[in-house]
Amino acid sequence: MKVQDLEFKKFIPAAAITEKVKALANQLNHDYKDKTPIFLPILNGSFMFASDLLKEVKVPCRISFVKTSSYSGTSSTGQLKTLIGHDESLFNQHIIIVEDIVDTGLTLEKIIEELRSLGAKSVEAVTLLRKKPAREKKVDVKYVGFDLNDEFVLGYGLDYDGLGRNHKDLYKQAEK
Ligand code: IMP
Ligand code: MG
Repeated sequence: MKVQDLEFKKFIPAAAITEKVKALANQLNHDYKDKTPIFLPILNGSFMFASDLLKEVKVPCRISFVKTSSYSGTSSTGQLKTLIGHDESLFNQHIIIVEDIVDTGLTLEKIIEELRSLGAKSVEAVTLLRKKPAREKKVDVKYVGFDLNDEFVLGYGLDYDGLGRNHKDLYKQAEK
């Protein structure tokens, strides 16, 4: 599949993603059974993952979206551009950040820092995908779907220059 100038090949099929999403939801249902957490999906990338995950979450919960951006093309700019508005009060709440992918971990670290300063009772993160830099830096993500190396991926909410978010399977960039 060609997207702009890059070639992508199928990587993780929708059925495998569905299975993993259910397993992550089961873990959350177990760990938060006596709590009413607030899920904070990070837009845009996590919209599809958050939607599927939250359909399997059975504990009472609130959901509020935040938006950030640190990517340009296929690499991180190293700077977090925006963090647009959670409307719920987060003070004394159990927060679960929902991410599509953690790469350098910069986005997540910034958000966790901000949430702690707002007085959240606990802050954890669930991500569908985690890349090698985040593992090496030991970025604090409790719930991880799939561990990747450094491949650039697209589909299931993830984009390349805004394109490809709509695919239900995950693709990765083909070697040149
Ligand atoms: P980090 O701040 O470097 O951890 O980057 C996190 C954000 O970069 C993710 O939430 C994605 O939106 C984006 N990103 C990182 N890797 C990829 C990728 O392989 N494909 C598409 N987007 C990515
Ligand atoms: Mg993202």
